[in-house]
Amino acid sequence: MPLLDEATGYKLYWSTNSTHRDPAYFPEPEKFDPRRFEGNGPAPYTFVPFGGGPRMCPGKEYARLEILVFMHNLVKRFKFEKLIQDEKIVVNPLPIPDKGLPVRLHPHKASAMS
Ligand code: HEM
Repeated sequence: MPLLDEATGYKLYWSTNSTHRDPAYFPEPEKFDPRRFEGNGPAPYTFVPFGGGPRMCPGKEYARLEILVFMHNLVKRFKFEKLIQDEKIVVNPLPIPDKGLPVRLHPHKASAMS
């Protein structure tokens, strides 16, 4: 989301990634800790994967539901095996796994493929 500063002509780029890793709002930001979303969750405008304010993503609830159903079915049916154990995360400008996070899925039961 580049912003143009009219006075200087500079463009500023604010990335959600930097806010999401700000220890002032997310203690130990590198730690996987789903409990940080319990109760009232993060302070307003600090966790903004779908943006915020009047131009916020209108597909937010649809996307959340779709991802929930998709992940539910994957986790229920398969065990995940990471193929690259120490894969780096690159930030360019959004954080993504360097090699695309290849995984192998192993069915929990033979019937899982049906
Ligand atoms: C994981 C899925 C998705 C993510 C992370 C995401 C994220 C975002 C973000 C960050 C914005 C910019 C918000 C802002 O400027 O404050 C946005 C805008 C938008 N998104 Fe999504 N989105 C997702 C899925 C979807 C889906 C499924 C749809 C439609 C079915 C959708 C439609 C839109 C539209 C139309 C805008 C532009 C809104 C505007 O400029 O007024 N998005 N999205």
